[in-house]
Amino acid sequence: MWRPPERIKHIAETGHVPTRDEATASRLFSPVGIGGLTLEQRTWVPAMVPWRATEDGFVSDDVVDWYARFARGRPGAIVVEATGIRDVASGPLLRIGDDRYLPGLRRLVEAVREASGGHTRLFIQIIDFLSIRRRPDPAKFFERFLAITDAHRAAFKGVSDDGEIRRQLAAMSRDDLAGVLSERELESLEYGYRERITDMDAPHIRDLPAVLPGLFADAAARAKAAGFDGVELHYAHAYTMASFLSRKNTRDDGYGGARENRVRLPLEVYSAVRARVGPDYVVGCRFLAEECVDGGSDVDDAAFFGVEFARAGMDFISTSRGGKFDDAKQPGIGASAYPYTGPSGYECMPGHISDEHGPFGRNLNASGFVRSQIRKAGLQTPIICAGGVHNFEFAEKMLANGVCDIVGAARQSLADPDWFLKISLGRGDSVRTCEFINYCEGLDQKHKAVTCHLWDKMDMENPDVKKTEDGKRRLVPPEWDEALTDT
Ligand SMILES: Cc1cc2nc3c(=O)[nH]c(=O)nc-3n(C[C@H](O)[C@H](O)[C@H](O)COP(=O)(O)O)c2cc1C
Ligand code: SF4
Repeated sequence: MWRPPERIKHIAETGHVPTRDEATASRLFSPVGIGGLTLEQRTWVPAMVPWRATEDGFVSDDVVDWYARFARGRPGAIVVEATGIRDVASGPLLRIGDDRYLPGLRRLVEAVREASGGHTRLFIQIIDFLSIRRRPDPAKFFERFLAITDAHRAAFKGVSDDGEIRRQLAAMSRDDLAGVLSERELESLEYGYRERITDMDAPHIRDLPAVLPGLFADAAARAKAAGFDGVELHYAHAYTMASFLSRKNTRDDGYGGARENRVRLPLEVYSAVRARVGPDYVVGCRFLAEECVDGGSDVDDAAFFGVEFARAGMDFISTSRGGKFDDAKQPGIGASAYPYTGPSGYECMPGHISDEHGPFGRNLNASGFVRSQIRKAGLQTPIICAGGVHNFEFAEKMLANGVCDIVGAARQSLADPDWFLKISLGRGDSVRTCEFINYCEGLDQKHKAVTCHLWDKMDMENPDVKKTEDGKRRLVPPEWDEALTDT
C-alpha cells in the first residue's frame, strides 16, 4: 500500500455522540427520495467486494450471510459488490451475465429484506472490466508471450532467426530493453499485459460501444428480475466505463477526446438500461469526482459528467476518487497489478498514515463541487459521497455543508455494521470505530476473504461461528447483543 511521504498518523475519533432524540432529529436519520423510492435514512453502504462468491461467480451461503449481517444494521441502502455483466470466467467475483445467476441473487435479495425488516433498500453495482494478466516470469515472456515484430527484427540487424532474437532480448539489461521494446511491451514484461479501451486494432475493444449498452441493459434487467431495488452502473476506478470518461481516452471513433465524446458511451449505456428496466426502476452510477493521476480527468470534467448524468435522468450519483492502474505498484512475478496500490489508490481508500489533509474526507470538496454544479443546472439528483466517514458528527457536517445528500461509509460499516443503528438509538458510545489501517484492503488485494481486524478474532472458540478455510478468522462480524432488545 502506498502512503504519503509525510507519514503523519491520524486517529479516527468517535466525535460527538448524539442522544436518541438528537439522532432522530438529525439530517443523517431523515428520509430522502431516490427515484421513486424513499430511503428511511441518509446512510449508505457502498460496494465492497468481500471475496465470498463461488469460483463460478454464484451467490454462496457466505455471500448471503455477509449482506444479511450488514442489513441487520439497517442502513438506508446497501450496494452489493461490483458484479460482472459478462458471462466469462472471472474467479470468485459475483456475476450477473446469465439467467442462471438469478436464483442465487434472488436469495440474496430476500435475505437482506428479511434481515433489515424491510428497512434497507438494496442496490447492485454492475461492472465491466477488460482483461489483465499476471506479471510474467521474464524467461517465459521472451520465450513465449512476446510477439516478435519487424521493429524487433530491425533492432537486431543480421539476426535472421526469431528464436535468436528472443534469446538476445532475454539477456539484455532493462536499459537496453527500453530501447528495443515498445512501451506496452515493456509494461507487459514488468507489470503483466493489460488491455486498454484505446487498443483499437483489437475488434472486441473497437466494438465496445456497440456491445456494452446491451450487456449492461441485460444485467440491469436481471437485477430487476431478482428483486433488487435498483442498479448502480460502475463508472468509477480502473474499469472499462471509467476509462471511457478519462481524459486519457484518446479513441478516435467519436467516443474519446473531448468531454462530450468521452461521456457518450456512459450515456448510451444508461439509455439502454433505462429503456430496458422502465422509467420507475432506480438507476444511478458511481463515478470519479477526480481521477488523481497525471493527465487524468479533474473535478471540472466530473462536474460536466455529473450534470450530463443528472440531465439524462439518473436517479442518484455516487462519487468516489482515484483507484487507477496508471500509478499502481509493480506486482510480484505471478501476481496481477492492483489499482489501489499507488497514490491514486490511496485517494480512493486512504489509510491512517497520511499527509496534513489526513484520510478523512479527501473527497468532500470535489464531491461538493460536482453537487453544486448539478444544483446550478436546476437538477435535484441525490449525491452520495464516500471516503473516510467514521462518525456521526462528520457525516452530519457533510450533509449540512452541501457535500452530498446521502453519506457513504464503506470501511466504517465493515468495522461495525451496526454503527448506524447504534447511533440512531443513542448508543453511539458502543460503536467500533474504523482505524483505517487497511488490513481489509490488504486482504482484498490478495483476493482473500475480506474481514476486519477489530472483530475477526472475536468468539473464535464458538463452534457456531463461521470461519475462513484456515480456521483463523471469523467470516461475519459478531452480533450486537443489545440490538434485539433495543429495537
Ligand atoms: C474491501 C473493499 C472492497 C471494495 N470494493 C469496491 C467495489 O466493489 N466497488 C466500488 O465501487 N468500490 C469498492 N471499494 C471502495 C469503497 O466502496 C469506498 O469507496 C472506499 O473504501 C472509500 O470509502 P471508505 O473510506 O468509507 O471506506 C472497496 C473498498 C474496500 C475496502
Ligand atoms: S480492517 Fe477494519 S478497522 Fe481496519 S481499515 Fe478495514 S474496516 Fe477499518
